Order: sequence, then C-alpha cells, then structure tokens
Amino acid sequence: MRGYAPKATVQTYGKGLEGLIAGETTISSIDGTKGTLSYRGHDIASLANDRSFEEVSYLILNGHLPDSGELSAFDAELKSWREPPEGAVRALDHLPRNATPLAKYRTMLSVAACLNPDAAETDPAWQWKRPTRILAWTAAIAAAAIRHLDGKPPIPADPDLSFAANFLYQSLGQRLSEEDVRAFEASLTVQAEHGLHAAALAALIVISTGADLGSAVLAGMGALSGARHGGANQLCFRLIETLGTPEVARAFAQEKLAQKFRFPGFGHRVYKCPDPRVSILEPLTQQLLARHQKTDLYESWQAFRKEVESALSPRGIYANVDSITGLIYHAIGLPIPSFTIPFCLAIQVGWMAHCLEYLDQGPMIEPGAVYLDTQTS
Ligand code: ACO
Repeated sequence: MRGYAPKATVQTYGKGLEGLIAGETTISSIDGTKGTLSYRGHDIASLANDRSFEEVSYLILNGHLPDSGELSAFDAELKSWREPPEGAVRALDHLPRNATPLAKYRTMLSVAACLNPDAAETDPAWQWKRPTRILAWTAAIAAAAIRHLDGKPPIPADPDLSFAANFLYQSLGQRLSEEDVRAFEASLTVQAEHGLHAAALAALIVISTGADLGSAVLAGMGALSGARHGGANQLCFRLIETLGTPEVARAFAQEKLAQKFRFPGFGHRVYKCPDPRVSILEPLTQQLLARHQKTDLYESWQAFRKEVESALSPRGIYANVDSITGLIYHAIGLPIPSFTIPFCLAIQVGWMAHCLEYLDQGPMIEPGAVYLDTQTS
C-alpha cells in the first residue's frame, strides 16, 4: 500500500475547519468580535452609502476605487456583456418552471461556458479577462431564471440603467424608483465580499487546480445555496412572513427557543457580535418597507429578532445578513425562491477576486484527513 506522508505536521484540526487559516488576502478585513468589515481598507458602511455596486466591484477586483475614466471603461465593458449567449438562455426551455432559480442560473452559466470558445484557456491573462463578462452574463441569466418561475420570457437589457437597476428591470419587468434601487444596491454592496467563507473557499480550491474562473464560480454557487449559508435568507423570510403582530412574533420566538430551534438568519461562524451588514441595511429596509406599506412586517421582524437575540446573544448568536435581505427582496417584488440570487450575484465578485489573487500565490489546495481506524480491533 502506498504510504502518505504529509509535508507538514498537523497543527490544528477542528471539525468544519473552524479556526483554520486557509490563505492570505489583501481583499477584505473582518473583525468578528468588534463587528467590522472593510474591502481593500474601505469600511463597508461608507461604500454602501456613497458608492455604486460597479465602483465597489471594481474596488474588490482591482484593489482601488476607480477614477472616472476607469469607472466608465468598466461600466462600458459590463454593458457590452449584458446579452449572454442565446443557447444559455434557451436552456431554460428544457428546465421545469418550478426548479429553484439558483439551480437554473447555475445550469445556464454552465451552458454559456460550453458556448464560449475561450472557456478552456486558463493562463492568467485569460482569467483576468473573465470577471466583467461573468458578472454581466450572470445578472442577465439570473433575471431570466427568475422570470421563468412565472413562465415569462426574458427581457432585453436597458443600456441606460446601472447594474443593480437593470438586473431588477430584467427580473421584474419594471423600472424601480431610485430609492428602491439604492436599498437593493446597498444589499449587493454589503454582501460582495467576505473573506474565505465556505463558498469562497470552494471557488478557491477549484482555481487552485488550474481550472478556469467560470468553474470556480460554479463551485461557489453550489456551496452558497445551502441552508447554512446563502440559502438561509429564503428560510428566514418564510418564517418572518408568518409572524403577524410583534406580540405573536415574540411568543413564536419563545416557543422556538424552548424547542432549541436553529433559527435561519441567526448565528455566524465569524461574527460573535452584531453583524455590521445588518445595522447598515436596517434604516434602508425600514424606509423601503414604509414606502411599500409594509411597516408591520418590519416591526414584527424587529420584535422577533430582539426576542431571539436577548436569549442567544450571551452565546454570541445575533441576526446575520440573511435575516434582513429577504425583507428588501420581498418589498421590491422578487419571489422568495429567488432570494439567494442577489446574494450570489454580489458575492461572486469576492470569489473572483480571491481566485485571481491566488493565481500568483498558490499550490493546489489539498488538505489531508485524520484516518480513524475502524478495521482493527
Ligand atoms: N439558532 C440557534 N442556535 C444556534 C444557531 C441558530 N441560528 N446557530 C448556532 N447555534 C448554536 C448551535 O445549536 C450550537 O449549540 P450547541 O453548542 O448547544 O450544540 C452552537 O450554537 C454552535 O453551533 P455551530 O453550528 O457549531 O456554530 P457555527 O459557528 O459553525 O455556526 C452557522 C455558523 C452554520 C451559520 C450557524 O449559526 C447556523 O446554522 N445558522 C443558521 C443558518 C444561517 O443563518 N446561515 C447563514 C450564515 S451567514 C452567511 O452564510 C452569509
């Protein structure tokens, strides 16, 4: 039998790789005890309030905020890729309407890769050409997948609209108000990067093998879809929409706490304090829901959240970003099964930045395992 001798001795081992450092990065900094998150040295609150998603994406990918020339070139490139290959959109005709939109979106991106003549090119110069195309294509593909839920055909892009406004237009078939787009765009910004979380690590492992950036993004999508990760926003909203009045919300939280229920939208591997993304989105969400006559929903969410946090915060469990984004997506009219899509669209920017950063750094990522001998007595 061939022996396996790891190069380094095992330093730490924890189930779920908790506490293990998987790489070095200059992309984002997270403090899970103070509750801070910054991209390339910029606090996310200022980015969410003052910058467009295009600017934030450029920053994450390129390391600095764009000047006006860089921004218009990036914007023009994104707009030039807004029409994904026809065959990728037609793939929808072969998929059931009620399949989850994220699964349809993932399938369509795979089809787009098959129709793309340079998909197999993996030298760094080719990899660096890909992020804008992936970002623009996936927005159009995701919008088509959302419309397919209701049997509606895709809508062509509007070249006058920003990335966020156009995605909503292509998904919903109507142009939203500036304020509504801003709330949605802020949700994209705060979710655009988060270090080497599970989905980013999945993408990084794929790029480290010498695969193409599209395959890495597909791996990230699969990892993000799970209920413990990006899939939690749908589950949390399904719970919130049943709450009714704040009194009912509090009683429901008490009942579930007594059952030791695992609340979707609460808890985080890194944050053992309030999630900074929630506090940034709170005022925007409150105003958005008020504009849409849904203040009751906001109040019952707050009552529910406070009740859960007052019991679980001593253990470091607070509402995470997935608990609030569903309120935004519901208010602007996105269907619940599609809620993980905006999260995926945003955070793939971070995945791609980590993958590109890794191209110059790394060996193939391949950890070992602790063998448990159950054969010998
Ligand atoms: N509700 C109630 N209890 C919880 C929750 C929760 N949401 N999260 C963790 N706990 C408890 C666990 O039951 C466990 O208790 P125990 O020690 O008595 O068994 C303890 O906290 C530790 O739980 P772990 O799963 O080991 O903690 P971890 O740090 O790995 O959890 C995770 C992170 C997976 C996100 C977890 O908090 C969870 O399942 N949350 C719900 C799903 C969710 O919201 N996911 C989105 C996360 S944010 C994101 O991906 C963008």
